[in-house]
Amino acid sequence: MIASAAPSRQTRARVSAPSAGEFLFCTCQVGAESALKSDAVAREPSLRPAYSRPGLVTFKRAGPRLASDDPEAAPSPLARAWGRGIGRASDPAAAVAMIAEATSSALPLRLHVFERDRWRPGEAPADALIGGAAALIRAELLALWPEGRPLLLGEAAEPGDHVIDVIVAEGEPLYLGHHRHHPARLAWPGGQAPLLLSQPIPPQAPSRAYRKLEEAIAWSRAPVRAGDVALELGSAPGGASYALLRRGLTVHGVDTGVMDPVVLTTRHASGARFIYHNAPMSQVQRRDLPTALHWVLCDVNRAPQVALRTVARLAAAPRPALMGVLCTLKLDDWRALRHLDGWLRMIEAMGMVEVRATQLPSNRMELFAYGLTEAGVQRRA
Ligand SMILES: C[S@@+](CC[C@H](N)C(=O)[O-])C[C@H]1O[C@@H](n2cnc3c(N)ncnc32)[C@H](O)[C@@H]1O
Repeated sequence: MIASAAPSRQTRARVSAPSAGEFLFCTCQVGAESALKSDAVAREPSLRPAYSRPGLVTFKRAGPRLASDDPEAAPSPLARAWGRGIGRASDPAAAVAMIAEATSSALPLRLHVFERDRWRPGEAPADALIGGAAALIRAELLALWPEGRPLLLGEAAEPGDHVIDVIVAEGEPLYLGHHRHHPARLAWPGGQAPLLLSQPIPPQAPSRAYRKLEEAIAWSRAPVRAGDVALELGSAPGGASYALLRRGLTVHGVDTGVMDPVVLTTRHASGARFIYHNAPMSQVQRRDLPTALHWVLCDVNRAPQVALRTVARLAAAPRPALMGVLCTLKLDDWRALRHLDGWLRMIEAMGMVEVRATQLPSNRMELFAYGLTEAGVQRRA
């Protein structure tokens, strides 16, 4: 199955996935708004771009959905949170009234209040306060919440939940939306992973790729386990390899660049360690690697089709232990998105039965795509 978003889930309540005349909202990385608009319209020509702000794009649906459409699917892999747009509210009191108007009163709702991105990934000033404004608005909404209206406690959504999205930006109206939660989405407000955000990257981690990998595992729910063996193409300086080592995986890293000493010297209590293949990936042969590889990762700054050809060569059967491939796909510019379906087909041809792509919060001009084998899907179940 190739998908860039969540599989289907029908909604019978008053809130529903967008149909003709309705609005659709998506949040995304700052700077990706135009690319998201073009990509979503190319995939779904009935969408008409409407209100948009940095990190937030909305569309009006000009025609009916096709029967084959998945009502909960992401309009584009660049969308991080998405759903039916309810509209703009000037303040929390107006928001509560609009939510009441848009939803049936007996329907238990989950509240996701979050700030849209203000900076490109990695560009937020060190003293930026992220999340404070959303926490304040959430508290106000809860204080105003009408008695007797069912509200689900906590923020982590469960599959099937009706989630109300409240998107906050300083000095601007609140933007309100609704979606049904599905396991293929991240469960937390705005498609973020709050645990990852609140836990600083360990100071000894050699690069931001540490968080990128943790986000990738959280989003894909890749069943990575201690004792597994991973191959990482493009491993230097070693943020992702370090994250895997800390999880107890043995990592074979391939890079022409220099690995950080912390990666070379780390030994996990289980004995897991890093094995360095200091060579271009084209020169690494299957005989240089163990037969029992569980994961192949790729983060090389090469064109995706070039990187994926090497992944395919090294991941190809017989690889009886293989659980999946986790690939960061570098884009020259946003127009490269038009090749995504071809790249996903390359991943599927590696014997993967579940293939999806998204732009993770930490991804810059890149996408994350993964494939799981049948064994990987079974292990995750
Ligand atoms: C984004 S960095 C990788 C970051 C790394 N995953 C981490 O966790 O720190 C991309 C890496 O790809 C490597 N690279 C590019 N082309 C390569 C090739 N043909 N063979 C091996 N490594 C390559 C670069 O040397 C660079 O270290």
